[in-house]
Amino acid sequence: MVKIAPSLLAADSAYLGKTISDLELAGADFIHFDVMDGHFVPNLTFGPKILKELKKYTSLPFDVHLMVTNPDECISWYAESGADLITFHLEATESPIQTIQLIRNYKLKVGVTLRPSSDIKQIIPLINDVDLILVMGVQPGFGGQKFYPDTLERIKLTKDIIANRNVLLEVDGGINFQNASLCVNAGADILVAGTAVFQNGMLSENIATLKGIHL
Ligand code: DX5
Ligand code: ZN
Repeated sequence: MVKIAPSLLAADSAYLGKTISDLELAGADFIHFDVMDGHFVPNLTFGPKILKELKKYTSLPFDVHLMVTNPDECISWYAESGADLITFHLEATESPIQTIQLIRNYKLKVGVTLRPSSDIKQIIPLINDVDLILVMGVQPGFGGQKFYPDTLERIKLTKDIIANRNVLLEVDGGINFQNASLCVNAGADILVAGTAVFQNGMLSENIATLKGIHL
C-alpha cells in the first residue's frame, strides 16, 4: 500500500506539535518538512530548531526536502536535529556524490530530486547511490499548486530508471484524491501531500482516501 508523507507546509504553524501527533494517529507514514531558504525558492520555512523541538511529538520518520542553494552546508544542521531522510535538489549542488556522502556520514537515508523543468535522466548516474527519488508534481516553493500533467510520464520514466533496485519513488506536489491512484499505478511508493491531507481538517479520512482505503 502506498505510504503518505503529509507536508507540514500546509499545516497551521501555531499547532505543529499537536498536528504531527494527530497525523501519526491519522495513519501518516512520514512527516515531510519542506525546507526553503528564500534563494533556491522564493519562500522561507523550517529551520533545524523546529525539527529538534517537534521530534518528541511523534515516532514517525522525518522526511526532509531541502530546497536550498547550499545543501552541503545544511545537511549537518538537519541531520543533528532529527532528520531520518534528507532529499536534495541536483540543481543545487556541484557534486551530488559529495552531497550524498555527507548525508551517508550521518547514516541517514538519501534522496535526490529535480525541478519539473529539469531532465529526470540526470538521476541515472546516481541511481545506485541513493535510497529514494523524489518526483516533483509542481514547481518547488509553495503548496496548493496544480499538479503538472506531465508528472505521470516522469514518474513512469523514473520507475523505469529505478528498475528492480531497492530505491523508493516519492511524488511531491499537487497530489489530490483524483491523481493519487494514477501516481501509484505509474510507480509511486510514497505520496507527499499538504492541501489534500489538511483540507476540512479530516486527517484520517483524507489519508485513508489517498491510500485508496474506502472507509
Ligand atoms: C512544494 C513542496 C510540496 C508541497 C506539497 O515546494 O515540496 O511538498 O508543499 O503541498 P500540496 O500537497 O499542497 O501541493
Ligand atoms: Zn516537498
